Amino acid sequence: MVKKYSLNKEKIKVLLLEGIHKSATDFFLANGYTNIESLSYAPDEAELQEKVRQASIVGIRSRTHLTKELLQTAEKLFTIGCFSIGTNQVDGRIAKLMGIPVFNAPFSNTRSVAELVIAECILLMRNIPVKNAAAHKGKWLKSASNSFEVRDKNIGIIGYGHIGSQVSILAESLGMNVYYYDIVKKLSLGKAVACSSLEELLAVSHIVTLHVPETQHTRKMIGERELALMRRGSCLLNLARGSVVVIPALVEALKSGHILGAALDVFPEEPTSNNDPFISELQQFDNVILSPHVGGSTMEAQEKIGTEVAEKLVHYSDTGSSIGATNFVQISLQPNRNVQRFLHIHKNEPGILKEVNYVFTSKGINIAAEYLQTDNDIGYVIIDTDSKLDSTILPELKSIEGTIRVRMLF
Ligand code: NAI
Repeated sequence: MVKKYSLNKEKIKVLLLEGIHKSATDFFLANGYTNIESLSYAPDEAELQEKVRQASIVGIRSRTHLTKELLQTAEKLFTIGCFSIGTNQVDGRIAKLMGIPVFNAPFSNTRSVAELVIAECILLMRNIPVKNAAAHKGKWLKSASNSFEVRDKNIGIIGYGHIGSQVSILAESLGMNVYYYDIVKKLSLGKAVACSSLEELLAVSHIVTLHVPETQHTRKMIGERELALMRRGSCLLNLARGSVVVIPALVEALKSGHILGAALDVFPEEPTSNNDPFISELQQFDNVILSPHVGGSTMEAQEKIGTEVAEKLVHYSDTGSSIGATNFVQISLQPNRNVQRFLHIHKNEPGILKEVNYVFTSKGINIAAEYLQTDNDIGYVIIDTDSKLDSTILPELKSIEGTIRVRMLF
């Protein structure tokens, strides 16, 4: 009879930093991971190194940087969770070369951003920021001029991905006409109309809202030329990335009145902490809503991010499934409880897989299933066996030249 082995989860140290939502801890606990240390702050370099050195799973938000130097001291670490959208804070390539997949939460805060976009559309179209600023200074600007309903207005969405498409649904439910432009062909939701060019979208929209990633093509995507192509009296929203809009060009367009109002949540230069000052040429305009990169920052999003990333980390730890990893070859697997499972991550060099297989065949162990994915740098093979465990397998797999990391599950 095949003996069943179980993952010794109490030994797997989970380190969660920067006040990651309790939903993550709850998820780990519910799945048998009891060895959890959760810190409310981002540790300094020395403390971080010491803590990470002892951890098998590390969860961070945006302030902790896992650099090459730090990762190289983390011998036990086998996966990293970025409880955020971005993963720039981790040296993903080095992590990959060390056999460490990095996971993130690409759409847990999508709805939060979309809701803020809709709120800002309404506020800008009603010219509320100007009236609000005046009221704070004791002025009473009771007037309907420059105040419009959003119903029947055209909203132009640049980037029809997770956020853009949610904005589309919400805007349409308010009676807006939705136009969008994306470099990838997308399924139009509801009555949304795809524009064949950015220029077409700019010309038709009363409100233009940006939801593109930062790429070489989106950097400075909205400059003097594009602003001039927008309708006179239209509004611009950027809750995507600070580099997408050329701020001096926007300043001129606002000064001339060509652009009636704007909302910006992201900036080319952003303070690194709440203690640093925020300086922008846009501070001179009452008709510009400025927010400190909080588009996705809601309690609901934090909770969802906690669960989403913890779920991916647990799934990887339990089954070896790397699906959703941002830096790694992708294998999607469910647990198979009747077998032992070996995870072998190696340099993508000829002959290694043959040697891995030889470890099993030379012992007469039947390989029940084998899954392999490679990229230019690494190979990741998952092997399920249905024989009695031989304690020499693990060290033999580890000793194969080119091996990066080996784990045994169940
Ligand atoms: P996504 O990847 O789901 O969608 C991006 C879309 O932009 C894709 O459909 C893509 O094909 C399209 N795209 C890429 N290059 C383009 C180009 N040159 N022209 C037109 N379309 C282009 O991303 P998601 O989740 O919708 O996020 C969008 C942006 O929002 C990202 O920049 C992200 O950093 C930002 N964001 C901001 C937050 C905040 O707090 N303000 C929170 C979450 C995301």
